[in-house]
Amino acid sequence: MSAGGTARKRGAEALVRIRPEQPRDAAAVRQVLVSAFPSSAEADLVEQLRAGGKIDVSLVADIDGDIIGHVAFTRVSFDPPLDFLAHGLGPLAVVPGHERHAVGRRLVQNGLAACHARDACMVVVLGDPKYYRRFGFEPASRHGLRNEFGVEESFMVFMLEARAHPPPATLVRYADEFQSLPRGAAL
Ligand SMILES: CC(C)(COP(=O)(O)OP(=O)(O)OC[C@H]1O[C@@H](n2cnc3c(N)ncnc32)[C@H](O)[C@@H]1OP(=O)(O)O)[C@@H](O)C(=O)NCCC(=O)NCCS
Repeated sequence: MSAGGTARKRGAEALVRIRPEQPRDAAAVRQVLVSAFPSSAEADLVEQLRAGGKIDVSLVADIDGDIIGHVAFTRVSFDPPLDFLAHGLGPLAVVPGHERHAVGRRLVQNGLAACHARDACMVVVLGDPKYYRRFGFEPASRHGLRNEFGVEESFMVFMLEARAHPPPATLVRYADEFQSLPRGAAL
């Protein structure tokens, strides 16, 4: 990229504010999700999760009041039960036309920090390994974790605390609302 292009990219990033979702953002968040994903399944999912009070961390990317990105983190549970807090990342979405300006990166990194601030030990994701690896996500199976969706490679974990040691074959359960997503959906 040219020096001018790099400067423009940095300029665009600087305008984007990552902040917690507010109640007034709900319609804009739906628009983000509908525009970024092939169907409204993820938008519907976020609305169900929000209505059920299941979203612990919800961040938006805001440019002068325009919402161009969103990420949600929900609490996950373990079977057998474990005595520590963990979250599932997703959905993550950036409006087409605003990609590749590190908006997704900032949503993920700020979200991980927010989960850590809540004392979460780990964050799992069902997503594209090529994308999430760059943040330090690694195969969840490496930490003894499995999932309910029959996916292997795309189930990853970011360890926030070294003290979390799940026993082998621990099942991670997402909120029931996630069962409505098409099989293999990347969040
Ligand atoms: C995935 C998504 C959130 C990335 O947002 P973004 O703001 O463009 O992300 P960033 O700018 O932080 O990172 C862009 C980089 O990720 C790469 N990338 C984007 N989506 C990717 C994917 N599914 N797999 C691998 N790499 C991906 C881009 O090629 C780019 O690479 P580069 O840095 O080498 O140029 C956005 O493209 C999106 O909303 N996609 C549709 C919804 C979706 O699929 N969400 C789930 C993600 S698994």
